[in-house]
Amino acid sequence: MAKLIDGKKIAGEIRARIAQETASFTAENGYAPGLSVIIVGEDPASQVYVRNKKRACEEVGFASEVIALPAETTEAELVSRIARLADDPRVHGILVQLPLPAHIREGAVIAAIPPQKDVDAFHPENVGRIMTGHFDLLPCTPAGVMELLRHEGIDPEGKECVVVGRSNIVGKPMAMLLLHAHGTVTLCHSHTRDLAAHTRRADILVAAVGRVRLIRGDMVRDGAVVIDVGMNRDENGKLCGDVDFDTVEPKASAITPVPGGVGPMTIAMLLKNTLTAARLAAARERS
Ligand code: GUN
Repeated sequence: MAKLIDGKKIAGEIRARIAQETASFTAENGYAPGLSVIIVGEDPASQVYVRNKKRACEEVGFASEVIALPAETTEAELVSRIARLADDPRVHGILVQLPLPAHIREGAVIAAIPPQKDVDAFHPENVGRIMTGHFDLLPCTPAGVMELLRHEGIDPEGKECVVVGRSNIVGKPMAMLLLHAHGTVTLCHSHTRDLAAHTRRADILVAAVGRVRLIRGDMVRDGAVVIDVGMNRDENGKLCGDVDFDTVEPKASAITPVPGGVGPMTIAMLLKNTLTAARLAAARERS
């Protein structure tokens, strides 16, 4: 029987701590940390994510706004909207919800966000900082996974860490954070020849591919820690991860559920990044 890693509870503890720290920040500075979230178009999943982010901001006492733009918004219009937020001293974090409509280049939009306000840590400058280990802001989902491991007393040092999925948002930065924590990291992807041969060697296995129940029990070694970043709908419309929980759970020593595992941690880390960005901006103003 695996220990169930309760991301919802751990995220709740982090949010409570951030709420306290936010109250101190606001009392000291006379303004609250501010996050602006931009959503372009009507993607239903994105709308749910953005609504959850806004609610989480309100709960901890941030000044947050959602800027909803029509799907026909041009790249130039979006970039100029970001430029206005970049110049606004009360906005400490800017998040553009992805995916964007096909006619807008994601790279051009991310590059328009000042790195100090880039609470997703997707800007090339922040990506570079993550490579070297000199970062202030970390991408929310991989940071959330590291926080879960820390909370559970699972230290990647010297362990075989296998990440499945090489996205810019999760897989690549996840591999880098595990490497910084002195894990021996293997990054698997759709062209990996024998996926199971790699996953079976993992002490810590992180699945982040977006494929319904890809990782089955026979692909996991006894006692592995299994972190499921997937957020998929199965053939019956049921929310499920990249891990086949029923066959993997009996072999794992610890496992995250979907929902209630990594997902809630992502939002907690967004709050943490926004507070960090606000603190750094306040420190720059003072100096
Ligand atoms: N879409 C799916 N995940 C994310 C995320 O972490 N940040 C942003 N901006 N968009 C997303």
